Amino acid sequence: MVHIFTDFGTMFQYIKKSRVKWKEISRKVRHAYRMENVKSPPRPSPPPGANPDWTIPQDWSGYTAVEHVTWDRLYSRQLGILRDQAAPEFLSGLDLLDMGRGGIPDLDRLSEHLMRLTGWRVETVPGLIPAEDFFRHLANRTFVAGRFIRTPQQIDYLEEPDIFHDVFGHVALLAHPIFADYMQAYGEGGLRSLQFSAMDKLARLYWYTVEFGLVSTSDGPRIYGAGIASSASESKFSLQSDSPNRLAFDLQRVMRTRYRIDDFQQTYFVIDSFEDLLRQTLETDFAPVYAELEIETSLTPDLVLAQDRVIQLGSQSHARDQMLAERARHGAAVLPQWH
Ligand code: PHE
Ligand code: FE
Repeated sequence: MVHIFTDFGTMFQYIKKSRVKWKEISRKVRHAYRMENVKSPPRPSPPPGANPDWTIPQDWSGYTAVEHVTWDRLYSRQLGILRDQAAPEFLSGLDLLDMGRGGIPDLDRLSEHLMRLTGWRVETVPGLIPAEDFFRHLANRTFVAGRFIRTPQQIDYLEEPDIFHDVFGHVALLAHPIFADYMQAYGEGGLRSLQFSAMDKLARLYWYTVEFGLVSTSDGPRIYGAGIASSASESKFSLQSDSPNRLAFDLQRVMRTRYRIDDFQQTYFVIDSFEDLLRQTLETDFAPVYAELEIETSLTPDLVLAQDRVIQLGSQSHARDQMLAERARHGAAVLPQWH
């Protein structure tokens, strides 16, 4: 079973839908609109009971015994896999935040802890929220997490991000000062990207770092992306399979690369270090990069370029097998979903 998380992907689809309308309007009459000072189309507002910033109380005492056991099962399974495969910073984050103390973490308690370490907090939200609100939370050093946890039947497969993906996957690294700064900078960069209608390009950076990133260590590449770290099958696939490419991280190259949300990644990008990731993204003004990307063609997720620093060239056997299986099921070629 493939375990995929589509939080940013789905969020992007959702934004894209509202942007389609916006684009139709804006391309032709952006000037007219601007002159008449008409505001951008309304964003959806939070559901009843939620705060204006979309947060809701975690209501920790409302979790059932079964839900706490689900966390424990997921936690111990992932720890067994990640002990030798995750970045040391990820593992020490789990320890520092005491995430294995048993049961779903109480986020008030966790936030107090995290606040002392790096000034971050974790809040719950009812589901996916508009990108702008998500970016604003990051820029304020708040990570928003789903409140629910998957059912025992969904242990291996779940589409929406639940509290295990969000808190186990994302929050451990927020205890690391450099990564904590990167996430805040990303939020600020996200707000800025909206002015350039370039969120799709910036989303690829999130995807290939925060969700599916690998980091170079003296023992070889290690996992730090939340989408990998919270998935048993992708944890193994990302480091052990000979199918995917593993390429050295290159900022502009990553922002040109489309990604798939329906299967394991066909390429993983390996950063040299968290310091290097933060430095590169802070030092680069993305405005001219967005302008360039606007005229460059985007790349399919399997492609390897002459300029790439290849750490391991993948056979792409997994993607090929999946494609053949799909073809057999449907009697025709089905194109994979790319973003
Ligand atoms: N430097 C980026 C910009 O000019 C902002 C950013 C920083 C984006 C870190 C992502 C991560 O928009
Ligand atoms: Fe995520």
